[in-house]
Amino acid sequence: MRDQQTRPIFRTSKLEDADGPGLNPTRTPTMGEIIAARFSRRGFLKGSMAVTAISATVSPIALLSATDAQASPASAFTFPEVTADVDADHHVAPGYDADVLLRWGDKVFADAPDFDPLNQSEAAQERQFGYNNDFVGFIPLGGADDRGLLVVNHEYTNDHLMFPGIVTITDGEIAVSEADETRVGIEMAAHGGTIIEIRKVDGKWQPVLDGALNRRITARTAMELTGPAAGHARLQTVADPSGRAVMGTINNCAGGVTPWGTWIMAEENIHGYFMGTLPEGHPEAANYERLGIPEATYAWGRFHERFDVSKDPNEANRFGWIVEVDVMDPASTPKKRTALGRFKHEGAESVVARDGRVVFYLGDDERFDYVYKFVTAGAYNPNNRAANMDLLDDGTLYVARFHDDGRVEWLPLVHGQGPLTAANGFSSQADVLIETRRAADLLEATPMDRPEDIQPNPVTGRAYVMLTNNTRRDEANAANPRVENAFGHIIEIIEADGDFTATTGTWEILVKCGDPKIAEVGATFSTETTVNGWFGMPDNAAVDSDGRLWVSTDGNSMGDTGRTDGLWAVDTEGAARGTSRLFYRVPVGAEMCGPCITRDMTTFFVAVQHPGDGGEDWEGHGRPSYYEDLSTRWPDFDDAMPVRPAVVAITKQGGGRIG
Ligand code: FEO
Ligand code: CA
Ligand code: CA
Ligand code: CA
Repeated sequence: MRDQQTRPIFRTSKLEDADGPGLNPTRTPTMGEIIAARFSRRGFLKGSMAVTAISATVSPIALLSATDAQASPASAFTFPEVTADVDADHHVAPGYDADVLLRWGDKVFADAPDFDPLNQSEAAQERQFGYNNDFVGFIPLGGADDRGLLVVNHEYTNDHLMFPGIVTITDGEIAVSEADETRVGIEMAAHGGTIIEIRKVDGKWQPVLDGALNRRITARTAMELTGPAAGHARLQTVADPSGRAVMGTINNCAGGVTPWGTWIMAEENIHGYFMGTLPEGHPEAANYERLGIPEATYAWGRFHERFDVSKDPNEANRFGWIVEVDVMDPASTPKKRTALGRFKHEGAESVVARDGRVVFYLGDDERFDYVYKFVTAGAYNPNNRAANMDLLDDGTLYVARFHDDGRVEWLPLVHGQGPLTAANGFSSQADVLIETRRAADLLEATPMDRPEDIQPNPVTGRAYVMLTNNTRRDEANAANPRVENAFGHIIEIIEADGDFTATTGTWEILVKCGDPKIAEVGATFSTETTVNGWFGMPDNAAVDSDGRLWVSTDGNSMGDTGRTDGLWAVDTEGAARGTSRLFYRVPVGAEMCGPCITRDMTTFFVAVQHPGDGGEDWEGHGRPSYYEDLSTRWPDFDDAMPVRPAVVAITKQGGGRIG
């Protein structure tokens, strides 16, 4: 995996790999850990005695699926696999087209300037598609899936790939010059997100540059803090005594589209944007330490004092939230919804529960941090969009405890309950939300192997948790059974009675990832999985309209897996459960983000993030990759153009459903 130990040279490489051994100080064995480690619960369930013993806690829907499982031998997928490998291009399964739709620097508005990589400016970047596309959502405009809004997060910037003349190599030592104010301005404008209308013309997608709803959101867009923590003294700053008006959103990783058609941008690795030292004895010291703030990966604080904690100590409390954007009003103020807690939010995928309340699954991507879900207090109203617009301000946030007997318990993070009282420094629900991690520590939630995207499956009533990796454990727990978990795993949650609002459920491991041929890795893909079909480091996921699971990855490379990242189709049902096959793979150095399949299943939008960020371990390059010496110039392959992150639209040749 692309950890910083192997590639420390470029300071803007993945922030999440620079997070040290984890920031959770409480990872003592809390709830019966270990016993079930390396123990196949699924095998256990096959025994009739086991079914009797566990039937009180396994939902009817789960037992039903287990029966179906034995009756259905075939994979739900029939596409021919791509060959896993590493090269400078992307590749999709035979019979499909993968067309580049939007690249970094492309116009988002008809009057935007053309991309000129040698003369980029903040003003130009504010009108152009941003860098490092991550989450992708499609919000249809009209009944058919041939016209809609594409919403895309721009997670972070890789300066060494974006800017000419900033990398120097002296005696094999590589350095990146510190950003000046111009570069910082471009970086800030390349963050955030894009809303752009797209349309299918003669079977091919194209952007609609005069779309009335097109919009760029950046690190400087005016936003509003809402919900229980809004206005709290800890959110008040020099520039904003109200504690409600924030500028911008940063490090928007995965996200979601709500049932009412708003866009969720999750703020993840916020620590790297802050510099300076808190004033001596400042009350936020422990709070910031728990999140690794500040880390000063970026130089923004040199030119914008709010990013310097010595000058504006509360600004960092205004990041790390879930942001909701009303895409139908380009003048709307995005809302930071404090009710969903503050941590390194990976994403927020949602599902409407039986009683109409809406459940959001939330991962906190750090070693030894937690899995959460949020249940709205109000019910979704499918007939009145306006009635749903503040559903995210009121509800209950829960954190997961994965018991070793296969139960999962959702523990409410509610002020006044259990240890969440003034005696422990929580004077109100605002305190609980601002310091969500510390509140969850006190509830003895289960420390996980970096929870990334969590995807509910409305067809089966389950949810899939991507746990990307963690090689720094000294003790396993049942839900994180490998001490040396270099390749991650996927947990399946079966909520009680198939009710997504349930506060209990069961769990099992769908698959432990890695190369099944290497015994020590302990991977558990089905034996039907080919040499191309296995993967490591699950990160994002999608569930299609048929309830099939698709998984994208972050961290596969020549050195550890002999393959790039990509998009894999993973069977969850029947005898084929645990079978994976490779559908699409990215160019060298890239990560696969944003898998988003349209409702009619005829288009898969995928986000190729940080292509060309690496290539030392690939024989086609074999040395560091930076602007002047790139491992790939995808997607243009034009010597005048740098490598560019891009969103790709995958369709079946001749049309039809994917998969
Ligand atoms: Fe930005 Fe956790 O991936
Ligand atoms: Ca991610
Ligand atoms: Ca997802
Ligand atoms: Ca990741």
